[in-house]
Amino acid sequence: MSFFKSSQPVRQPDVLTSEAAVAPHALIAFRNIEKSYAHGTSRTYVLRRINVDIKDGEFVSIMGPSGAGKSTLLHIIGMHDSAWTGEYYFLDQPVHKLAAKDRARLHKQHIGFVFQSYHLLDHLTVYENLDIPLSYRDIKKGERESLVGDILDKFSIVGKKDLYPNQLSGGQQQLVAVARAVISSPKVILADEPTGNLHSSQGREIMELFKKLNESGTTIIQVTHSEANAAYGSRVINLRDGWIVDE
Ligand SMILES: Nc1ncnc2c1ncn2[C@@H]1O[C@H](COP(=O)(O)OP(=O)(O)OP(=O)(O)O)[C@@H](O)[C@H]1O
Ligand SMILES: [Mg+2]
Repeated sequence: MSFFKSSQPVRQPDVLTSEAAVAPHALIAFRNIEKSYAHGTSRTYVLRRINVDIKDGEFVSIMGPSGAGKSTLLHIIGMHDSAWTGEYYFLDQPVHKLAAKDRARLHKQHIGFVFQSYHLLDHLTVYENLDIPLSYRDIKKGERESLVGDILDKFSIVGKKDLYPNQLSGGQQQLVAVARAVISSPKVILADEPTGNLHSSQGREIMELFKKLNESGTTIIQVTHSEANAAYGSRVINLRDGWIVDE
């Protein structure tokens, strides 16, 4: 994949590094992160010795075959998953040491997440789903209404605002999921195959949006099977069977 600018090759220290070794400007630093599932007496590893630094303002694509651990990795970064070992620093805070409520506060404040399977709240309308991330912030009601109005407009889904997720097509749900991730202008956007269900021109629009957000300082980490989508970013992390591999 020579056309990807790999300005920041993935570092893989041989030894378990200590807290002092975290790069000073890393937004996200993983030190020896591992995740496994127990089956009776045996254990299956889905992430192995993951050491990676992602700087503020990067646009990173995570690629690899199905089952390689891409979603698992993204969910750990997004702090939805806490069943792993190793050290994870986010904005210099040791996530591995934080209490659940402090982790929740940190990700609600800074991270917008597009789930591979959308995860819209079924009992809320499109409008209400989009308002949720704003409710985590200290934003006045009038401003929330105008932000939701703007994003509905931007994503051309104004006519769907009072519908529930099960009244939308798969692609429309995906658009709402992306809109929900970006609406509160989070510091980091994590997106798991954000265009998988979209028409190619809509997919390109989402990538153009991510590119614009990245140019204005947002860190983007996307999982993608698409080399065209990865080309919007500046760096690729390749996963195989839970390991980071160089290509
Ligand atoms: N609850 C579980 N118990 C055992 N193994 C699991 C469990 N959940 C996930 N896995 C395994 O973790 C591995 C990684 O899954 P993950 O969803 O991260 O893959 P992925 O790279 O995102 O794949 P895809 O491209 O298909 O989305 C898979 O082999 C999967 O079977
Ligand atoms: Mg996945």
